Amino acid sequence: MEDTVYDRLYRELDQLEQADPTLQTTDSPTQRVGGSPSERFSSVEHRVGMLSLDNAFNRDELTAWYDRLLRVLDRTAGTDLDLIGELKIDGNALALSYRNGVLERAATRGDGTHGEEITPNVRTISSIPLRLQIPNPPDWVEVRGEAFIPDDTFAEINTDRARRGEALFANPRNACAGTLRQLDPKVVASRRLDFFAYTLHLPAEQQPNSQWNGLAWLEQAGFRVNPNRRRCQTLAEIHQFCDHWDHARHQLPYATDGVVVKLNDLALQDEAGFTQKAPRWAIALKFPAEEAPSRLLRVTVQVGRTGAVTPVAEFEPVALAGTSVSRATLHNADRIAELDLHIGDTVVVRKAGEIIPEVVRVLPDLRPSDAVSVRLPELCPECGSTLVRDGDEAATRCVNSSCPAILRGGLRHWVSKGALDVDGLGSKLIEQLVDRGLVRSVADLYRLDTALLASLDRMGSKSAANLVAALDQSKQTAWHRQLYGLGIRHIGEVNAKALANAFLSIEDLSAAANESPDSIAELHGIGTEISASLGQWLGTEANQQLLNELRSVGLALEASAAERDAASASQSDQDGVLQGKTLVLTGTLPSLSRSEAKALIEAAGGKVSGSVSKKTDYLVAGDAAGSKLTKAESLGVTVLSEDDLTAMLQP
Ligand code: IVH
Repeated sequence: MEDTVYDRLYRELDQLEQADPTLQTTDSPTQRVGGSPSERFSSVEHRVGMLSLDNAFNRDELTAWYDRLLRVLDRTAGTDLDLIGELKIDGNALALSYRNGVLERAATRGDGTHGEEITPNVRTISSIPLRLQIPNPPDWVEVRGEAFIPDDTFAEINTDRARRGEALFANPRNACAGTLRQLDPKVVASRRLDFFAYTLHLPAEQQPNSQWNGLAWLEQAGFRVNPNRRRCQTLAEIHQFCDHWDHARHQLPYATDGVVVKLNDLALQDEAGFTQKAPRWAIALKFPAEEAPSRLLRVTVQVGRTGAVTPVAEFEPVALAGTSVSRATLHNADRIAELDLHIGDTVVVRKAGEIIPEVVRVLPDLRPSDAVSVRLPELCPECGSTLVRDGDEAATRCVNSSCPAILRGGLRHWVSKGALDVDGLGSKLIEQLVDRGLVRSVADLYRLDTALLASLDRMGSKSAANLVAALDQSKQTAWHRQLYGLGIRHIGEVNAKALANAFLSIEDLSAAANESPDSIAELHGIGTEISASLGQWLGTEANQQLLNELRSVGLALEASAAERDAASASQSDQDGVLQGKTLVLTGTLPSLSRSEAKALIEAAGGKVSGSVSKKTDYLVAGDAAGSKLTKAESLGVTVLSEDDLTAMLQP
């Protein structure tokens, strides 16, 4: 089970048991004392106890920790303290004892006072020096840090285990813990563990006076210290550091689950002291959880503009990646079956950053005995017609072309940014227009008048007039965007552009679809599936009627004179220098705007994409380039300046 899921379930159980102690059983997870040393390794006592850290789960809790620290140190509220932000590496803590500069003993954390002695295993970790690289090593030193397995090594280990039919490790931290407790050091060596040092204990007179200097000492002695640390003079700087790494951590090649904030000055650390289990001078700010458990309340379905039915799980609200989530897509009927979903199930929900929330899996052990299995409805919830599923297709669809849900979706698509881009026609208004039977097709939008619109809920004469003007203006939209706006299956913005470049009007396109579908399929990036979908759409009577109506209300559905000129110009340099290349733009370029740069690239046959991947050929980076630059560098993608780009495009 995911750690964050376990933590939340544990907290819920703990609260229930506290509210009603009779619920507490002797085998309850709350009664289990964690981390007792196993008998396979000998137990050793730590020279200095290994405490854990208190957690803060958001900004306010971090601020509350800081205010408490000021009070403990007897400082006035608002005083600035010298702090350090470090990444919290998600691995396993190790205690390393060096005597006269030589690694003598390595132990796990265990219960904090006693750990397991695993020296032979730790000796195989190449980033842990067996001998300190300083001239006059102290009599003894105790180094603490985190052993971990980098993400790519973790993936290899699991692939290997899968191949051999062995159980997979749930995450890199579990894999690391399992590896450290291997009986055969050769196996440990093969798993390529790594280690970041973060604390040291020396005889009092030799102890560096601050955490910052302690880290420098560790680096000099030959340890790897995580470079992503920052000395901060204010709490605001710490907040900034945390915000930065909440996003940037996804680019790191290893897992981190938070930021550890520490008071820098060791004398002040002593003054602040410890609680029962953790230092007062440090706190771990945990990054917002991306997975959490919730209870499934019901499953509803949404009908999209293509008629495809998407089941949606509705569950008790949970906080995920900084927002409250209560709905998640279930994709299709196959996915529901695969999850073996029941109403009342405890489900694991995942939402990472901007990604759409998803139900990852069900925890069947927590299923109520009377739970009923989820099935997709047989009828469209919007129009009542029977839903159909084509043999090999994953989607279930409503095929009634006058289904109000399909109509609403089609209207939303028509007015969306990449299509006709009509301002002032939001979902609520579209719903009213469809419900009242005022609009039965996209063409009907152009027949709406100001007086009628002004009479609708939440519309005034001003907004009505603006909308009529915006619709009128939209008739001038570029031909490829009108084509895209029709919402034909498989014809997204890129394909619409390719088709509109090759066929300058809907008539040309219809003629080609009729007479030589191959001439469409052969276009770069099109192919037979798209060509067939286009042919089917154009061959449908109702759609031909829609095209006629659109023409009658003033949409040309063809390239303007200027577009024709541009198309014939681009025909003549089919073999541009960037033909077949994918470029990504980031940061502010010195002289070109984004759209100018994009136009130049496309004119040279290149494609502009929004995100960097292995398929990216070039990243064009300007000022203040951020994560895309970092990612491009880590993938070895060639980075160009604006000058490099324009030089490439010189004839
Ligand atoms: S300082 C007194 N710094 O987090 C405890 N711990 O939840 C001092 N950890 O047991 C710990 N990265 O295993 C510290 N930069 C870092 C850390 C770190 C990861 C782990 C460590 C500790 C756990 C506490």
